[in-house]
Amino acid sequence: MKRLFLLPITLISFSFIFSACGNSSNNETTTEGTSETVNETEQTVNEEETTTTEEKTTENEENTTDLADKGEKLFTDKACTACHQLDKKTVGPSLQDISKAYNNDNNKLISFFKGEGKAIVSPEEEALMAPQIETITKKMTDEELEALSAYILSK
Ligand code: HEC
Repeated sequence: MKRLFLLPITLISFSFIFSACGNSSNNETTTEGTSETVNETEQTVNEEETTTTEEKTTENEENTTDLADKGEKLFTDKACTACHQLDKKTVGPSLQDISKAYNNDNNKLISFFKGEGKAIVSPEEEALMAPQIETITKKMTDEELEALSAYILSK
């Protein structure tokens, strides 16, 4: 019985010694137990005024001074794209290869389209291109051929 009584006393004295050793932080400062009511602040999302500028898709055809643009349209409209890609050979040589071979020689390319000049890029495959000349490019106006040529040579 005496021992049991002594135990808490020794424990208390121990803790007293510990706190006396300058461990002042042991003095627990009781934090205020006020339950903070968490006010969920509604974040007002300021909807950014996204000014959607209406894309002007309508090309002003009348003012198209850019020959190459006209040429690109012709190239697509006349389905040249079925056999010619910009940078890789498909059925026909790439536009870049054609452009390289013609080296900015507009007149030479136009005479090819008129059926006057010979194929220089891939003559062995001429048979595939020949009908395009007969049915399409030979029937184009000089202006159209200028545009088509400008487009290809711009690549
Ligand atoms: C059926 C597939 C096909 C279509 C469609 C086609 N081509 Fe070709 N084209 C070829 C082939 C194949 C060659 C390679 C033979 C040659 O060099 O002439 C070629 C070559 C060319 C060349 C290089 C000529 C040269 O000196 O060798 C040009 C320029 C050309 N095509 C323009 C056109 C244009 C413009 C159109 C649309 C009006 C067109 N092609 C439509 C298959 C096609």
